[in-house]
Amino acid sequence: MADQATAPAPNPDKLMSFMFKLVGDLGAMASIGPMLIGEKLGLYKALAEGNPVTPEELANATHTNERYVREWLCSQAASGFVDHDATSGRFHMTPEQAAALGHENSPFYFLGAIEMAVAMVRAEPQILEAFRTGQGVGWHEHDACLFRATERFFRPGYMRHLITEWIPAMEGIKAKLDAGASVADVGCGHGASTILMAQAFPNSKFHGFDYHGPSIESARKAAAAAGLGDRCVFDIATAKDFPGNDYTLVAFFDCLHDMGDPAGAARHVHSALAKDGAWMVVEPAAGDNVSDNLNPIGRIYYSASTFICTPASRAQEVGLGLGAQAGQARLTEVIKSGGFSSVRRAAETPFNMVLEARP
Ligand SMILES: C[S@@+](CC[C@H](N)C(=O)[O-])C[C@H]1O[C@@H](n2cnc3c(N)ncnc32)[C@H](O)[C@@H]1O
Repeated sequence: MADQATAPAPNPDKLMSFMFKLVGDLGAMASIGPMLIGEKLGLYKALAEGNPVTPEELANATHTNERYVREWLCSQAASGFVDHDATSGRFHMTPEQAAALGHENSPFYFLGAIEMAVAMVRAEPQILEAFRTGQGVGWHEHDACLFRATERFFRPGYMRHLITEWIPAMEGIKAKLDAGASVADVGCGHGASTILMAQAFPNSKFHGFDYHGPSIESARKAAAAAGLGDRCVFDIATAKDFPGNDYTLVAFFDCLHDMGDPAGAARHVHSALAKDGAWMVVEPAAGDNVSDNLNPIGRIYYSASTFICTPASRAQEVGLGLGAQAGQARLTEVIKSGGFSSVRRAAETPFNMVLEARP
């Protein structure tokens, strides 16, 4: 390795532009705390629902302190998360800012993802140790904010695409679910995908499975709140031992790569499916080569994969460690090793690819 004395001197222009990029990134990192506060105190919600406000008006509406709110509003305006009118001194949200930051049920809601970054920072001591030892850090060993954040990060995408695009893209599956069929949602976490499907297909039965007990508890509460009765049930099980057979559809949402033995999971899914059934594998969008993924979305996934997905896989048997950017070719290899005869990309979004595997 070249030491500082012998290393080539940096090009001053390139150095400055790199420093500007880092300043922008630091601004994003410094926004995490203000974003958490803005959501928890209802500041974004009040801005999204109301007229342009002064700091005092927003503080009054949210029962918060004007001085803090004023500083917060300036940070948000500097971030481009709210707009500031220099003449009136008021702040407001555009419809686009409100859709992403102000309305929790919007399919574009973004704030759910923020706690994922918090979970990653909290896990830093364990991950640092894992780098040294090569051991895993189980999904269940993370701070509980990860489980909430995961559901809230993925749910808006499922709301936008699952019922209207992804299921119709799976050959013949929508008609079967309309008529009445049995579905397993494995690695279901808090059950966001299971519940959306159960609401859309009232003649079908949905069974969510996850090895993580607290997530199953949350999923049960959410299903009860949605009034889905025994058409949508949740149980603790792993991807290699979940019960039932003759499923028309088995779905894995953003979880195959988190598993230690995805090939073993593929074998079990193969044995649990009906002959004309399908396995829907929703995975993070990724190309097959590292260079395909060196973009803003790959940046998020590779970072999360370093702190969450790869350690989760390494904490389980086999510990394959596919990583969150495995790409379709590698995923197809793993899926086919479980006995599946065909795998095709049925749908995609900027964040996800949807693979359809057939026995
Ligand atoms: C990234 S989360 C996705 C959760 C959910 N599918 C969603 O989209 O919101 C990964 C999930 O896989 C679950 N998981 C990991 N390994 C598993 C295994 N071997 N068997 C069953 N579930 C597993 C975790 O507990 C976690 O809930």
